[in-house]
Amino acid sequence: MLSPQVIAVSLLSLTLVTAQDCPPLPDTGVVMGEPVPMHPEHIPSGCSAYEILVARGTSEPNYEAGGGKFGIVVGDPVVSNTTVKLPGARGYPVQYPASAEIITGTRQGARDVVNRLIAQSIACPRQTFSLVGYSQGAGVMHAAAKDIPIALYPRIKSLVMFGDGYHRLGDVLSRFPVGLNSKVKQVCAPGDPVCDPNATNCTFFHLTYIRPSYINPAVDFIVKGFTG
Ligand SMILES: *[C@@H]1O[C@H](CO)[C@@H](O)[C@H](O)[C@H]1NC(C)=O
Ligand SMILES: *[C@@H]1O[C@H](CO)[C@@H](O)[C@H](O)[C@H]1NC(C)=O
Ligand SMILES: *[C@@H]1O[C@H](CO)[C@@H](O)[C@H](O)[C@H]1NC(C)=O
Repeated sequence: MLSPQVIAVSLLSLTLVTAQDCPPLPDTGVVMGEPVPMHPEHIPSGCSAYEILVARGTSEPNYEAGGGKFGIVVGDPVVSNTTVKLPGARGYPVQYPASAEIITGTRQGARDVVNRLIAQSIACPRQTFSLVGYSQGAGVMHAAAKDIPIALYPRIKSLVMFGDGYHRLGDVLSRFPVGLNSKVKQVCAPGDPVCDPNATNCTFFHLTYIRPSYINPAVDFIVKGFTG
């Protein structure tokens, strides 16, 4: 089993690959479909000005060497870079297993998102939120959005989906509820078969969101949503 640090390096080292090639997946040692251990002790307590709820991708481990809690490919770089630009921001790891049990996991994750939004909104009247989902986690956010009370929409400043399977299905099916949809940024790597309708079946591109060319614009979008 390689360390998450090695995973990060092996993914980043392939930044020159374009959608015409299909490189082999790096040997990360991650068994796809295995649940990721949940860490309730990573749930932040009290209030913060800005909270980013992150639903990780399937079996996506944390960047443990860097103290990551949200997923090495998307959540960890998004939260750490947003926090640098916007002190007062923090992440919340959506409590769901991100395993191959997608139907039950999505339901569990969506309930956790809605419960967190309601509880924090009551406890912290000035707190605002961003919703970030990667891969299966994007499905979690789609499911959660259906159940988020409309009264809380003004608190949700942005939604950013990476490798969102709904995106592949086209505009109509990937839409979030009216009142949230205008705050959505879709990040889809060309060639990612999960979200790009023109992609072949090269899974490699689904793992490339760790690249700064995807993370940096997402971070800017989140910061702007919170402060704009
Ligand atoms: C897919 O390919 C079609 C035809 O080449 C093109 O018009 C469309 O913009 C492409 N869609 C995406 C998401 O790249
Ligand atoms: C899908 O992947 C298989 C094995 O990786 C490959 O042989 C096949 O050509 C690919 N199909 C398409 C449509 O890209
Ligand atoms: C995070 O921010 C630093 C400093 O701006 C930047 O160098 C780095 O590329 C960013 N990380 C990612 C994954 O975008």
